[in-house]
Amino acid sequence: MIRFPASVSTVFSFFAAVCRGTAIPTSASSFDACSTGSRCLSVDTNGKVVPQPGPFVAQCTGRFPDYIVNSSHDAGAYTGPWFLLSQNYPTTPPQDSYPWLKIDFSDVDRYLYALRDYSFEGMIESDFRPERNSVRPWFHMPLMTYGPPRREPIRGLTEERSVTGPELGVKPNVTIRNFAIGFYNAPGATTIGTVWASANPNLAAARFAEGTASFKILFSNAKPEDFTDSSADPMTGAPEFTILTDKGLQTLRLLQMDVAAVDSRAPTGWVFGTFAFDKTATDAVSWKRLRPVGMSWGNDENYTPADRAAGKKLTESGLSSQIPGFALKHLGWAGRPNGPVDNPASGCLSCHGTAEFPVAAALGPFSNKCDTDAKRLFWFRNFRGDTPFGAVDPATCEQTMPAAELKSLDFSLQMKVAVQNAVQFKVTNPCAPTAPLDAEMRSAAPYSNAPRVGR
Ligand code: HEC
Repeated sequence: MIRFPASVSTVFSFFAAVCRGTAIPTSASSFDACSTGSRCLSVDTNGKVVPQPGPFVAQCTGRFPDYIVNSSHDAGAYTGPWFLLSQNYPTTPPQDSYPWLKIDFSDVDRYLYALRDYSFEGMIESDFRPERNSVRPWFHMPLMTYGPPRREPIRGLTEERSVTGPELGVKPNVTIRNFAIGFYNAPGATTIGTVWASANPNLAAARFAEGTASFKILFSNAKPEDFTDSSADPMTGAPEFTILTDKGLQTLRLLQMDVAAVDSRAPTGWVFGTFAFDKTATDAVSWKRLRPVGMSWGNDENYTPADRAAGKKLTESGLSSQIPGFALKHLGWAGRPNGPVDNPASGCLSCHGTAEFPVAAALGPFSNKCDTDAKRLFWFRNFRGDTPFGAVDPATCEQTMPAAELKSLDFSLQMKVAVQNAVQFKVTNPCAPTAPLDAEMRSAAPYSNAPRVGR
């Protein structure tokens, strides 16, 4: 059981505010599942404060919850550190350089390694806890703390698409679970801070400037014996994270890393690329055994599986010469770059292009109504981040007139998750239960029944 303090100490929260960014507060035994200096509140599943013992516990060290954890989760002997949401979003990003912006898209490996190395600088040493990283600040998206995929309390991981065998060499009918955490650099966080400056998200401000970079590290709970042939386990020797799930503590291994960057040279304004863990690599630091898979700067409009079969090449995506074998067998639609845990009927940019609100279209052409290439190609269009994706009728998988004004969220699906939580699911922020959102903003009508966004 997770216990939480009987009373809230404002002295402690002041202490936490002073400490943030320098050192993680050490966990004291009286705060079983909470960082010292944080406020831990008894809440319901939607974040509303309820008399204790409530079904969930929210940890507050800043304006947004670090995590909201089911109070029946059993952390066993684990006593911390607990996850801290990096949420001091800057109003102006500090001076930095963005080396990938000078690299040609044709040089896929160099472009991707530039993003990977920038993301890793100071981060490996600080165990991917931004409050310990003195090289450069990194930030998390707020409000990803609701619903089944909510942030867990040790590492802040959210649950991602699971994989059921035989996909990815997993034994038939065995399902492996995957978890991830994303980070934005300071230019990206400036946008996050502007969108969330008040309780009503300012969707028109969801535009990311050049220099923005985001990365996501993705882990799996798969064990060697989950694969048809245990020698096919792709994660031998991979870095491990232990997290707290509904099944208690689980040790996960690194499988994939995603990167995304705003780059005005791209027809979409963005470049998305991915890496897969390569167990045959020999780099001393195991994090660096991630090898590039490929990247996309456009959607290759009109390119279909028939084009691929005829030997035509993608022109707005490039594959790496270093792709680990298992990842090469798991690309996206018509061979577009995609990661090992991603839906093979999709691709990075096509899915991220659906970052709009309200949720008026599925993330990809996944339903059995999407039965022609013409219908599928609606997802593989090039447009920039100021244009919303559009609406698709789930009954036909055809484009339809939007039933409400759609606002683009500039390819950020984490922003879409956060906005959907706040506006459509009407969650409460227990750390700052300020004035309620105004009635108009609080409505996702007529898309109020749209499914939860999840990879
Ligand atoms: C079918 C949909 C889908 C596909 C395909 C997909 N993603 Fe995402 N991605 C998501 C969702 C949903 C989120 C937000 C939730 C989360 O982070 O767990 C996300 C989050 C991210 C983030 C964090 C920042 C942000 O934009 O929200 C990055 C970076 C990212 N994805 C990169 C990639 C890359 C690179 C690929 C291709 C290898 C890819 N994604 C493919 C659905 C997808």
